[in-house]
Amino acid sequence: MARHLITSAIPYINGIKHLGNLVGSQLPADLFARYQRARGNEVMFICATDEHGTPAELAAAKAGKPVAEYCAEMHEVQAKIAEGFRLSFDHFGRSSSPQNHRLTQHFAVKLAEAGLIREVSETQMYSKADGRFLPDRYIEGTCPNCGFESARGDQCDNCTKQLDPVDLINPHSTISGSTDLEMRETKHLFLRQSAMKDRLDAWIDSKSDWPVLTTSIAKKWLHDGDGLQDRGITRDLSWGVPAQFEGAPWSGMEGKVFYVWFDAPIEYIAATEEWTEKTGGDWERWWRTDKGADDVTYTQFMGKDNVPFHTLSFPATILGSGEPWKLVDYIKSFNYLNYDGGQFSTSRGRGVFMDQALELLPADYWRWWLLSHAPESADAEFTWENFQVSANKDLADVLGNFVSRITKFTRSKFGEAIPEGGSWGEQEAALIEDLTTRIRAYETHMEEKDIRKAAMELRGIWVAGNEYLQASAPWSVFKTDPDQAAAIARLALNLIPIYAVLSAPFIPDAAKNMLEAMGNADRGWPGDVKTALEALPAGHAFTTPEVLFRKITDDEREEWQERFAGTRD
Ligand code: MF3
Ligand code: ZN
Repeated sequence: MARHLITSAIPYINGIKHLGNLVGSQLPADLFARYQRARGNEVMFICATDEHGTPAELAAAKAGKPVAEYCAEMHEVQAKIAEGFRLSFDHFGRSSSPQNHRLTQHFAVKLAEAGLIREVSETQMYSKADGRFLPDRYIEGTCPNCGFESARGDQCDNCTKQLDPVDLINPHSTISGSTDLEMRETKHLFLRQSAMKDRLDAWIDSKSDWPVLTTSIAKKWLHDGDGLQDRGITRDLSWGVPAQFEGAPWSGMEGKVFYVWFDAPIEYIAATEEWTEKTGGDWERWWRTDKGADDVTYTQFMGKDNVPFHTLSFPATILGSGEPWKLVDYIKSFNYLNYDGGQFSTSRGRGVFMDQALELLPADYWRWWLLSHAPESADAEFTWENFQVSANKDLADVLGNFVSRITKFTRSKFGEAIPEGGSWGEQEAALIEDLTTRIRAYETHMEEKDIRKAAMELRGIWVAGNEYLQASAPWSVFKTDPDQAAAIARLALNLIPIYAVLSAPFIPDAAKNMLEAMGNADRGWPGDVKTALEALPAGHAFTTPEVLFRKITDDEREEWQERFAGTRD
């Protein structure tokens, strides 16, 4: 039994994610986790909410709530929606957990002991009215370049010029509005990533099987411009993991926390520790190579904007600590999903968000479309036309129709049990051979995390059953040779649990319904196809399921297209 550690990039706490976010991390990670479990392997599938940083503080302020309360509530909201999409996390953690606080501080100490942390003095904007330093997004003023009045401390949203807070005309605090600001000297911690450049470079070079999207982004950061830079890992915020703590090898860091991108990936480990608290299981055998994790295969899933943090920064933390932590074995990254001729936009409410999607249709529709159109080799685009066609054809016409035709036919001619009589001939042998080739190919695509290819192969497997039924036409054969019709029905009915098991990683709810209809006949992953097709013997009872997938109408498509075109408040 192989052991698979699987993590999805952890979504920011501020707000509900759109379908583009979903397909870029959580959903493909779930597909892989479900597949590995179905193959009998041991899986630890981890996700969490990413709760620190200015976006969390600002969203809480906007909601008029204390940030801890806001995060606790939003965590529940996101957990519920994840459940709605059937994301099968072993644990959905929180980066604000005590476990993550402890572990983040632990890593910082280890990095300091290894000489990889330096203290840097900087001058930074201080607000006397607020009694605090103001990080970039807490200062606004007029852009010196274009005159835009709400330019932020780090960038002007109007002309995109990169700014320094001192450049702003009439700068003011976005917390209090105060203009009583001054530059003060302050100290921050920097991670000496530059000192780790060669090690990281060699490590990336050893990953020849990684997607080009992943390695090219890593290489760009390692070699372009000035190469890998040291990185400030503290911020002047109160919400986060405190940078001054008992046993810290530095002083004067009061009022500062670790940068959100320092503590967020550490939450992958901390969330597994949270899982231990919940289950009593042993988290270290997943994460410590000195405690059994050396035989773990670790796969990460994420959008391309997350790649630098996972190929360079987090490995710098892990390697730099000098401790035997498990490093990632494979990084699957994704391009972007666009929405109907433009981009998904959280701020403008453009596109479909996870909660809304579940109000329209069951999770399986979205899972199937998103995964079979995953933005792997290039950006992909969601259009309602494509969504409608794909759901109606693949799910309703091919898979749903197959299940419905054979159960209804058998019920009407033989009753609701697998019929007896007849024998299989050439047509059946040809189908078995075809299915064998296809199922083995499907396995390869899933192992390689080639998601679109896997979806197309699965669809081909459904089509093969449909074509067999069409060609063997048991409804006509029945008139002259009922025994032969029984043999055909027996095969086709036995295909239903096989389809359920193969399809469950993509469409878990429909798979469950299909298995239930066949008397909960889960006989496991189909190894030898002929044996699998003989699993349910004559006399085995089944029920005729309700429509597996209803079709999406043109009216619905048009209405939804209009409804999701703009501004959600
Ligand atoms: N919250 C980040 C995002 O949505 C992802 C964090 S992934 C982790 O882009 F590595 F930090 F955990
Ligand atoms: Zn500007």
